[in-house]
Amino acid sequence: MPVLTYLGHSAFLVTSNHGSVVIDPFLTGNPTARTKPGDLKVDAVLLTHAHGDHLGDGVEIARANDAVIVAPFELANYCAGKGAKVHPMHIGGAHAFPFGRVKLTIAHHGSAAPDGTYCGNPCGFLLTMDGKTLYHPGDTALFYDMKLIGEMHPIDVAVLPIGDNFTMGIDDAVKAAELLSPRMVVPMHYKTFDIIDSDPQEFARRVTERGVQCRVVGIGEILEY
Ligand code: NI
Ligand code: MN
Repeated sequence: MPVLTYLGHSAFLVTSNHGSVVIDPFLTGNPTARTKPGDLKVDAVLLTHAHGDHLGDGVEIARANDAVIVAPFELANYCAGKGAKVHPMHIGGAHAFPFGRVKLTIAHHGSAAPDGTYCGNPCGFLLTMDGKTLYHPGDTALFYDMKLIGEMHPIDVAVLPIGDNFTMGIDDAVKAAELLSPRMVVPMHYKTFDIIDSDPQEFARRVTERGVQCRVVGIGEILEY
């Protein structure tokens, strides 16, 4: 079974018998991160969008590990220009990698890199490893198609942004959990900065009241699923 480690903000390391991937590895400059980019041994780096708090150390980690960056086409090309090995994909497309299957979903957000380069549309990821599916929606607003995503791809763990201001806040994330109907939800994208100071325990309480199991995973903690 896959093991997820929360690295802080929207960054997760996911490891199974078939490999390791890191999603949105914002470590350098993240005041809450305890992991250094050089600590990670991964086969792939999945990037939902180009904002600095998601692209993060992705290019450096990919280069140091000779790992492939999996990202929407425009962002993948941007990373290739920085010397990373890339596998471009786009929304609605899936691909079977040695470490697992990745499918890109819509996300309602932006995707400009820190240097101002616009990198197309952001995405979410459905990542299936060892027969278990993780849904990482990236940064997004609530959207009703989450219901369709959950119907077509039974989700074991959905990590959901709850920080508000840039993404869903708690009200919308609770609704997202209902629409997705996953086996378990894990809150993310909160408290990294003052502006996203949402309470994960409030989210946990409200989502549990609606019959969705929740686990607040602390930074550096793991979750087997
Ligand atoms: Ni963003
Ligand atoms: Mn963000």
